Amino acid sequence: MAELKEVLLEATREAGKIIAHYFQGSFAVENKEGINNLVTEVDKHAESRIIEIIKSNFPDHSIISEEVGEMIQDSPYKWIIDPIDGTVNFAHGIPLCCVSIGLKHEKQLILGAVYNPMMNELFFAEKGKGAFLNDKPISVSKKSDFRKACLVTGFPYKWPESKEHPIRVFERFILQGLPVRRLGSAAIDLCWVACGRFDGFWEYNLSSWDVAAGYLIVEEAGGRITNFDGDKYSVFDKETLATNGYIHDEMLRIIKNK
Ligand code: IPD
Ligand code: CA
Ligand code: CA
Repeated sequence: MAELKEVLLEATREAGKIIAHYFQGSFAVENKEGINNLVTEVDKHAESRIIEIIKSNFPDHSIISEEVGEMIQDSPYKWIIDPIDGTVNFAHGIPLCCVSIGLKHEKQLILGAVYNPMMNELFFAEKGKGAFLNDKPISVSKKSDFRKACLVTGFPYKWPESKEHPIRVFERFILQGLPVRRLGSAAIDLCWVACGRFDGFWEYNLSSWDVAAGYLIVEEAGGRITNFDGDKYSVFDKETLATNGYIHDEMLRIIKNK
């Protein structure tokens, strides 16, 4: 495990250096599907460096990474990579973006790291060993009074074919009089729940690379993460609810409009 952790942190830090180097500088930006779903040359550069580091240490491991897709190998290990989460922020010079890397063994996430180099914040978790921000242990908030909670959400580039329009759900939380923020990076949203800045986060239609590392970080920080039916979460779920645990059921109730 020590070697896996070392490689994870090396890849995370190296990608962070690349992101910080180009931040607010000039770089090519392209559109993916839709007009504001962006990818920059920095996403690709950071991604290549991460994959190079992983492959040079573990050539037989599987990898799934947002821009290059899936490299399947016959291995119980799978690295799940988002080279820049919050690319729209990055492209606009907004310092809320990060690299996110999770590692799965068989069906279980065992390591996760999320690094925002602009804020010098490195979140890390190892299964069963807790969650950390810059090496200090973190935990979710203890707020149990839902009326005093601070929430965060995000919106997909393309509206999902969900049972209900995400804007209606957002409206219900806002009408409760709660502060609801939208940072533009799901990985940071999850980590900020893990360290107690937010009490809850929900979003529709995230991808495995957005959530893999953050999922483990929230769980190891003592939080709860489920889909909108309150079931055990999987990184392939299209509904994500992560909270401090105390306000989880109340958030589920509002999401489901019960
Ligand atoms: C996006 C961010 C954003 C979320 C989008 C994601 P990207 O990832 O996490 O917060 O609302 O759904 O796609 O495109 O910046 O890697
Ligand atoms: Ca992402
Ligand atoms: Ca991305």
